Amino acid sequence: MSKVFHEIEKKIIQSLKENNKQTLEKLGESTKLSPDQIRRGIEWLRLKDLAVVNQSQKRTFRLGKNGIESFQNGLPEKRLLKLLSNGPKKISELQQELGSLFGPAMGLSKKNDWIETLSDKISLKTLPAVFPGEKTLNHIGMEEKPEDTIDEKDCLALSKRPDFLIENIIKNKEISLTDIGKSTKVSESTGAIDVEAKVPELFVARTHPLKDTIDEIREIFVTLGFSEIIGNMSQSSFWNFDALFTPQDHPARELQDTFFLDSISAKKIGTPEQIRKVSSSHKKNWHYHWDINEARKMVLRTHTTCVTIKHLAEQKPDEARVFSLGRVFRNEKVSYKHLVEFNQIEGVVVGKNATLRDLMGIQREFYKRIGITKIKFWPTFFPYTEPSLQTMVYNEKLDKWVELFGMGIFRPEVTKPLGIKKPVLAWGGGIERIAMLKYNLNDVREFYNNNLGWLRSVTKCQ
Ligand code: PHE
Repeated sequence: MSKVFHEIEKKIIQSLKENNKQTLEKLGESTKLSPDQIRRGIEWLRLKDLAVVNQSQKRTFRLGKNGIESFQNGLPEKRLLKLLSNGPKKISELQQELGSLFGPAMGLSKKNDWIETLSDKISLKTLPAVFPGEKTLNHIGMEEKPEDTIDEKDCLALSKRPDFLIENIIKNKEISLTDIGKSTKVSESTGAIDVEAKVPELFVARTHPLKDTIDEIREIFVTLGFSEIIGNMSQSSFWNFDALFTPQDHPARELQDTFFLDSISAKKIGTPEQIRKVSSSHKKNWHYHWDINEARKMVLRTHTTCVTIKHLAEQKPDEARVFSLGRVFRNEKVSYKHLVEFNQIEGVVVGKNATLRDLMGIQREFYKRIGITKIKFWPTFFPYTEPSLQTMVYNEKLDKWVELFGMGIFRPEVTKPLGIKKPVLAWGGGIERIAMLKYNLNDVREFYNNNLGWLRSVTKCQ
C-alpha cells in the first residue's frame, strides 16, 4: 500500500517501524518532532487506521518514612531477634530499647513463632534465614523502582505496614502501528503536491520600490487623462528661474541651493520675444536690472516646473492636461527628508474655467488613488503662483505632518510674457516623499542604500 503522507506522518511511521510501541516522549526523541507535531501526526494516522494509541500504566515504588527507617536500621523484628541472640531479655528492657517499634516487632515474631514468652522475659526460639520483606527493602533503598523489578511475594511483607511503601502510578500513552500501518510504504510517496512543504526562498529580480512608485504615479496620471511631457535635466537659468518670475537675486538661485554647471552658458535661451518680454516683466515688477548673462547660466534643474513652463511657452495651449516626471537636484544638506537628487512629479491643467477649487479637487483625487487620505492644504509662497498652496500629509512613521506638493495658479507675470492666455493650474512635489508614506519609512535615504534585506522584504503591492 502506497499513499501520500505529510512529512510528519512519514517520520512517525518510520520510527514506529523500527520500534513499535513508543510513548509520546520517546517518539519525540526518535523523530525530532515537536510535541504538537507528534500529536497532530498521530491523530492523522489514527483516522487513517494506521496507528493506535493505548493507555499504559506504569507503577513504581519507593520507601516511605518507616520504610527508610527500617532500611537504615533494620526491620523492627530483626532488631528484636538480634537483641535476644545472647539469651532471654526482660520485656521492660526490650521496650526501652525498641521504643514504639517493640509492639509491631513482638506481634510479628510471635506470629512467626520466632520467640517465646516466659513470665516477664522473652527468649529466642528460631532465627529465620531470611526476613520477609527485607529483600524488597534493600532492593528499593533510597531509589524508586519499577513494579516489574519487585518480588511480589516478598513485597507483601512490607505493603501492609504503615508508611513503608509508596506506590506511584504513571499513566502513559503508547503509540503503535496497526497491521495496515506496518505494511505501509512511506518512501514511495510521490505524485501529489504537499502544499505545506517548505520551499527554498528565491529572490528573483524585481523592480525597485521607488520605481514601482514612479510607475504607479505615471499610471494614475495617464488614467486621469494626462499626457507626459519630458525635458532636460540641465536647463538654463532662464527656464528654471527667470521664466518663472524668480528674480535674479532670489536666494534659491544661489550656489548653496542650486547646482550650476561650471562656466557653461547657454547661447540660445529663448526667442528674442520671450527674452524681451520676460526681462521687462522682471524690470517692471521687481524693479531691478535684469542681466541676460545670469539667465544664460546652466543649472541642474531644481524642479520640474521648468519643463512645464517651457512646454506652455512653446504650445500656448488653451486647454491641456500634462504631467512631467523626473530627477531634480538641490544643493541641500542630506537628511532623513532631504536628498540632493530626487524625483519630482508635476501636473498641469490649462483651461478656460480652471480654478483653485479644481486644483484642490485634483489633488484629493490623486492622493486617494495613491492611498493617502490624511491631507490638509496650507497657504504658502512661490514666485510664480498666486494663490499658492501646499499639501501637508500625515506621515504615521514620523508622527508628523510633512509637506508634499506645492501648487498654485500661474501668475499673469509668468503667463502673459510667454503668450499663455488661459489659467494654468500647476502642482509638483517629491516622489520619494510619497514612497516614504507608501512603504512606511522614516528616512528617505533608505531608497538609495541598496539594503538587499529591505528591498527583498518590501511587498510589491501595498
Ligand atoms: N516647483 C515647486 C517645487 O519645487 C512645486 C510647484 C509646482 C509649485 C507647480 C507650484 C506650482 O516645490
